[in-house]
Amino acid sequence: MAKTSIVTGASSGIGKAICQVLGDMDYEIYGIGRDFSEAEELASNPSFHKVELDLLNTSELENKIREISKGKNIDLLVNCAGVGYYGLHEEIKAKDISAMVRTNLEVPLVLTNLLLRKLKETHGTILNIASVTATQSNPHGAAYGATKAGLMSFSKSLYDEARKYGVKVTTILPDMTATNLYRNADFEASKEESARLVPEDIAQAVRFILSADPHMTITEFTVRPQLHRIEKKS
Ligand SMILES: NC(=O)c1ccc[n+]([C@@H]2O[C@H](COP(=O)([O-])OP(=O)(O)OC[C@H]3O[C@@H](n4cnc5c(N)ncnc54)[C@H](OP(=O)(O)O)[C@@H]3O)[C@@H](O)[C@H]2O)c1
Repeated sequence: MAKTSIVTGASSGIGKAICQVLGDMDYEIYGIGRDFSEAEELASNPSFHKVELDLLNTSELENKIREISKGKNIDLLVNCAGVGYYGLHEEIKAKDISAMVRTNLEVPLVLTNLLLRKLKETHGTILNIASVTATQSNPHGAAYGATKAGLMSFSKSLYDEARKYGVKVTTILPDMTATNLYRNADFEASKEESARLVPEDIAQAVRFILSADPHMTITEFTVRPQLHRIEKKS
């Protein structure tokens, strides 16, 4: 029987690439996003179900998750949706700080809360897409990095809480990946192939993690490009 997954951030970048790998791995996928206009290729997979909603609308999210998971096993939750606002901390707008904290941290906590009982029943997996910023100092990205450090802290504690029920929790820490995440920044991932990641690299990490022997859990997985470069937008 196909396993069932719920993936946030499915409409773009890393989440979209993860959905493609999950499709190859025969998962049924409920992919959450607001705008799927750049993800038409996912629709060709009959196991992909597009779930259009704003994750920041908590009551709508709760209703939708209940609807999806009613009478169904849930094997995998991928918390991938995220937003980034960068710059000197005093220059970031309060509403953008709130969007980062809610999207990058609150939503994964709420989704886990809603689905953990189901994941215990299936000995399921939670993949939290954090960032290398979770473990380092991030001048010009202090708030973004704090949300990712919070997500990583949550993952660690959750694993210790849920491991005895067979639940696996992995934090994935990607370095700069060429996606739309930097739409609000004055920098972006390098165009040089060896100095940036592409979404498919992170999806490959997901395939590796999900293919591991069931007796082991990969709790943290860092993915970096060979070279370190950041490109200033012209
Ligand atoms: N790119 C990098 O360098 C990098 C590095 C480390 C970690 N990450 C993390 O990777 C994750 C994926 O980001 P990405 O790089 O793939 O960027 P992206 O292409 O901008 O994708 C972000 C995804 O989040 C979804 N999203 C954001 N806010 C939402 C909301 N309120 N409701 C529903 N969906 C929402 C977007 O959906 P819609 O567009 O449809 O709203 C989109 O699918 C993020 O958590 C990011 O922090 C990225």
